[in-house]
Amino acid sequence: MRRSVVRGIGSYLPAKAVTNNDLAAIVDTSDEWIVERTGIRQRHIAAEGETTCDLAVAAARAALDNAGMSAADIDLIVLATSTPDNTFPATATSVQAALGMTHGAAFDVQAVCSGFVYALSVADAMLKAGTAERALVIGAETFSRILDWSDRTTCVLFGDGAGALVLEAQEGEGTLDDRGVLATKLHSDGRYKDKLYVDGGPSSTKTVGYLRMEGREVFKHAVVNIASVMAETLEMVGMSADQVDWVVPHQANKRILDSTAKRFGISEDKVVLTVDRHGNTSAASIPLALDVAVKDGRIKKGDVILMEAMGGGFTWGAALVRW
Ligand code: ACO
Repeated sequence: MRRSVVRGIGSYLPAKAVTNNDLAAIVDTSDEWIVERTGIRQRHIAAEGETTCDLAVAAARAALDNAGMSAADIDLIVLATSTPDNTFPATATSVQAALGMTHGAAFDVQAVCSGFVYALSVADAMLKAGTAERALVIGAETFSRILDWSDRTTCVLFGDGAGALVLEAQEGEGTLDDRGVLATKLHSDGRYKDKLYVDGGPSSTKTVGYLRMEGREVFKHAVVNIASVMAETLEMVGMSADQVDWVVPHQANKRILDSTAKRFGISEDKVVLTVDRHGNTSAASIPLALDVAVKDGRIKKGDVILMEAMGGGFTWGAALVRW
């Protein structure tokens, strides 16, 4: 059975870190409020002229180095983003060009904060089907460009960044001992599209627009949907929560992560938390968190990792991977 095995990981954060106190100088907020409600202490913000593609390319190069590969070895790029450089072409093709790749296929996936789980699921299916052999799966965002910096209810929550995985199709035994992607599960429910959205777009307003959110509604659905899709994903392969070594969640908000861990029945010290340092980087948050936990030695080869996310749409999903 073909498995999509992780061969490399890399990430990139813009140089500029913005603290809660920095934000308190521009909107009516405080470090105390932001830390208590979200767990966020700082976020990174892209420099003027630094685009989602730039962040994605830096993360992709780091992942290729980590894998000991070059762009010539890759024949698929799936890039998750809701903040593309342009309406079209896909930012993935700009990344492809920057890496000097003229072969293979590159495209974007748009599922907001669930984007990375969606991209991973799509790339896994393509590798398993034999459509490609080695894929770069990237989550990259510059949410700072779609924030209303006068709205304290949203601008304190998000940050910019990128993370990337190199996946390679390898023959496995077809058992749960195989390394690679073991299961993915995706959901969406468009009835909730107005709870978290951007109030502009090429076909509606001909503008880019700003992020709008009903925070409490999102919170309520996030905890229920995430805990349920985590359980569903484990059930697909007959695993139990105690067989999971690390949960690597989309980093939206520490309170969501704590409530989800409790509902799912996993101890908080098995949950990788980076929202304090990165804020919510949407599709980039899972690979950024994975990279932190791999580099600091927590995630080791052979560990079982459960990734989960929920975002605008609503979309939500989970991916179970043996590292
Ligand atoms: N600083 C100070 N006060 C604030 C701020 C701020 N940055 N933002 C809101 N407030 C005020 C509000 O105006 C309100 O004041 P009022 O009582 O005088 O009207 C008060 O704080 C409480 O506001 P609520 O919105 O009820 O606060 P809540 O406890 O729900 O926290 C939050 C808001 C943090 C957004 C929360 O709802 C939440 O975490 N929601 C999940 C949203 C999320 O994480 N979205 C990310 C994208 S989706 C995803 O990734 C899953």
